[in-house]
Amino acid sequence: MNLSHAPVDRVALRRWYDANRERTRSLFASIEPEVYYDAPIPLRHPFVFYDGHLPAFSFLVLVRRALGAPAIDPSLERLFERGIDPQNLDSARHLSRSDWPDRERVSAFIEACDVAVRNVFEHAQLIDPGNPLLADAQAVYNILEHEEMHHETLTYIIHQLPVAAKHATSEDVLDEFPSDAHAIVAIDAGQATLGKARDGSFGWDNEFPEHVVDVPAFLLDHYNVTNADYLAYVHAGGAVPPFWRQDGDSWRLRTAYDEIPLPLSWPVYATHQQATAFAHWSGGRLMTEAEFHRAAFGTPDGTERPYPWGSQAPDAQCHGNFDFRRFDPEPIGCSPEGASAWGVEDLIGNGWEWTSTPFSPFDGFSPMASYPQYSADFFDGRHFVMKGASPVTSRNLIRRSLRNWFYEDYPHMYATFRRAYDPATYLR
Ligand code: AVJ
Ligand code: FE
Repeated sequence: MNLSHAPVDRVALRRWYDANRERTRSLFASIEPEVYYDAPIPLRHPFVFYDGHLPAFSFLVLVRRALGAPAIDPSLERLFERGIDPQNLDSARHLSRSDWPDRERVSAFIEACDVAVRNVFEHAQLIDPGNPLLADAQAVYNILEHEEMHHETLTYIIHQLPVAAKHATSEDVLDEFPSDAHAIVAIDAGQATLGKARDGSFGWDNEFPEHVVDVPAFLLDHYNVTNADYLAYVHAGGAVPPFWRQDGDSWRLRTAYDEIPLPLSWPVYATHQQATAFAHWSGGRLMTEAEFHRAAFGTPDGTERPYPWGSQAPDAQCHGNFDFRRFDPEPIGCSPEGASAWGVEDLIGNGWEWTSTPFSPFDGFSPMASYPQYSADFFDGRHFVMKGASPVTSRNLIRRSLRNWFYEDYPHMYATFRRAYDPATYLR
């Protein structure tokens, strides 16, 4: 579909912005005011940063840079412009600061940014082929998707707060395995289309360009590796995954807002290192990014689909556990309608999927005009590609070409995995 000449629907875009702001507000309302200056993840900034960052980024990218409006408060704009992703505590300490402004000043600044952004949604030219930041309305989609990515960031930072410092309505805890929990699916050799065509619809710079790769035949777990599977590895001396807590002889799971007995049938959330080690220990390996595409979007007849389930827009009521339907995982196999053409389940939702592919640019990459550092700073061989979606990934971020990435030892992400096997060496 070529959208480059489609007029922008400013009402729909403004509603999207308002919905984003409302979700940000409700996430902040779920934490005690006393923790506003706390940084439960020492490698990330405190909550106050994210409160200011979202509207400041939207204002800077869309209103100031794309449309050339004057600054509101240059020092606060600089303070809230960019987050941190340091490798270790020493560099985090180096980047940290103690002089955050008081909450009233931050709130006034947020309000001013919001007014300016909303004014632009009402009146300004949102699409302008002559302006690289506004070609195909790039800056507009940038700020809208950016805020939704940070809803996930915020949730996993809130996750690290003590239970007493946050509140949410409690969620059901189902713990039930499908009868074929260890099924394995054969995927034929074939081609996979990675990336995104430059057709005028929005994508982040690292999604371009579209290209086709050959993928040899492989075998793949039908479902994600569960807490039960991983527990056997812990009993054999494997590393304890980030959200688990040992309590005497039993294990508990720290969910987003609570702590519960470890649900054995939920996908295990693990770091890339733990996922890789578990896969090798149990006779498999992580799938590559291309294998994810083949398993999720390929079909036995050689055609490809936009989503595992076909071409219907992502719907969290039937296709998977995503879009904030709940904060936490559910048992593997709860969304059979979201299965791919090969029958592989939960590829989108219930946790991002780790791949063995280091995050690097596709051939022909170029940094995006509205945020040139978005990806380029992370092509360092130490970040790995994640695909799919977690429970708190917006449906607006679900598309075939979207790539996420984190450090191999990053312990906070809602990321799970499944094993691939090579047909020649696979022994049942
Ligand atoms: C794409 C999710 C890795 O959270 O660091 C937000 C997104 N970049 N603001 C991150 C992002 C700048 C990014 N991830
Ligand atoms: Fe950001």
